[in-house]
Amino acid sequence: MTRVLVTGGAGFIGSHVVAALLAAGDEVTVLDSGHPAAHRRPLPSVITSDAPSDGAHSGGAPVQLADLRDPVAVEAALTGVDVVVHQAAMVGLGVDLNDLPEYVGNNDLATAVLLAGMARAGVRRLVLASSMVVYGEGGYACAAHGPVRPGPRVVDDLAAGRFEPPCPRCGEPLAPELVGEDAPLDPRSVYAATKVAQEHLTAAWARETGAAVVALRYHNVYGPGMPRDTPYSGVAAIFRSAVAGGRPPRVYEDGGQRRDFVHVRDVADANVAAVAATAASGGWRACNIASGRPATVGELAAELSRAAGGPAPVTTGEFRLGDVRHIVAHPGRAATELGFRARVGLAEGVREFAHAPLRG
Ligand code: UD1
Repeated sequence: MTRVLVTGGAGFIGSHVVAALLAAGDEVTVLDSGHPAAHRRPLPSVITSDAPSDGAHSGGAPVQLADLRDPVAVEAALTGVDVVVHQAAMVGLGVDLNDLPEYVGNNDLATAVLLAGMARAGVRRLVLASSMVVYGEGGYACAAHGPVRPGPRVVDDLAAGRFEPPCPRCGEPLAPELVGEDAPLDPRSVYAATKVAQEHLTAAWARETGAAVVALRYHNVYGPGMPRDTPYSGVAAIFRSAVAGGRPPRVYEDGGQRRDFVHVRDVADANVAAVAATAASGGWRACNIASGRPATVGELAAELSRAAGGPAPVTTGEFRLGDVRHIVAHPGRAATELGFRARVGLAEGVREFAHAPLRG
C-alpha cells in the first residue's frame, strides 16, 4: 500500500484523483487551501471514492485545510508519506494582471515550499499536474518550410477573421500537427508561465535529490464536478454553465480551433499510473495526458447542446489575445512509459457531462 498526499485534492481534478487512488487501494490524505477561485463552499472533511473497489479505503481521504505556502502545515502533512501528487494550482486566464501575484504565489512559491518540505522529510516521489499550456501554440508544418513555430497571433488578423497563424517564414497557411513532449516550451499567459516554472523547479529538485518526478501535461480536462463558469475555468465549464442556464454556448473565433478534450476520470487514472511509475524509475519526465482524439471547440459546443437538449451554439467571431489556435497532443509517451490510454470518448463523456452536477 502506498501512502499518497494529494495537494489540491478537494478540487475538480484533485477529488477524482483521490477517488481513483482510494479505489486502487492507496492510503490518501489531502492538503487543500480551499482557494475561493475554486471553492465557493467550505471543504468537506473527507474525500471519498465514488467507485469503491474491494481495495478501496472506506474511510476516504481526510482533508487538511492549509495554504501550501505554510511550511509548518506542509511538514506536518508530509509525515509518513511515500508520494506527493501535486494538483493544487490556480488555473485559467484570470481576470487581469492584478491576479499575477496570486498565480505566482499559489503555483510557484507554494511548489517551492512543498519541494523544500519534501527534501527535509525525505519524500522522493512526485507527480506534478502540469498543462499543455506550457507549449503555447501546438505543432505546425508549412508545405514549403516543414515544421515551424508560429508566433502569437496579431490583433489585426484576428479582428479580420484570420484566425489561423501563418508560416512565420513565408506567411502561407500551415497544417496543425500533434505536439510531442520534446517541443520547445513557449508559455503565453501568466498561468502558463507559472506551469513552466513548476516544471523547471521540480526538475532542479529532482536533480539535487535523485528523486522521481512525472509531470503530467493535461490537455483540456472536462467531466463531473467541474467548476461553474468563472474567469478561472476552461471552455467546457463555460459551455456547460451556459447550457445549464438555457443559454447557447458562445463559440469564439470560427469554432475551428482544435483541442484534445480528455475526461477527468481518464486524467485520474493517468495519475494512478504515474504514482506507480515514480516507484519504478527516478529522474524527471513529462507526459502528455490526452484522449488522442482531437475535436474542435465548435464540435464540443454542438455535442454538448445536443446532449443537453439546449439551444444550438452561436459562433461569435470574438477572440481572446491569450488564446492559441490549435493544440493537440501526441499521446504516445504516456502509453509507452505509463501504460496510460484514455478510455472515455468525447460523445460518451459529453453525454454524461451534459447532465452531471457542476461544483459549487
Ligand atoms: C485551457 C485552460 C487552462 C488549462 C488547459 C488544459 C486557459 C485560459 N484555460 O486552455 O487553464 O490548463 O486548458 O486543461 O489557459 N472559447 C470559446 N468560448 C468561450 C470560452 C472559450 O469559444 O466562452 C474558446 C477559446 O477561444 C479557445 C478555446 O475555447 O479557443 C479553449 O479555451 P480555454 O479552455 O479557456 O483555453 P485553453 O487554451 O484550451
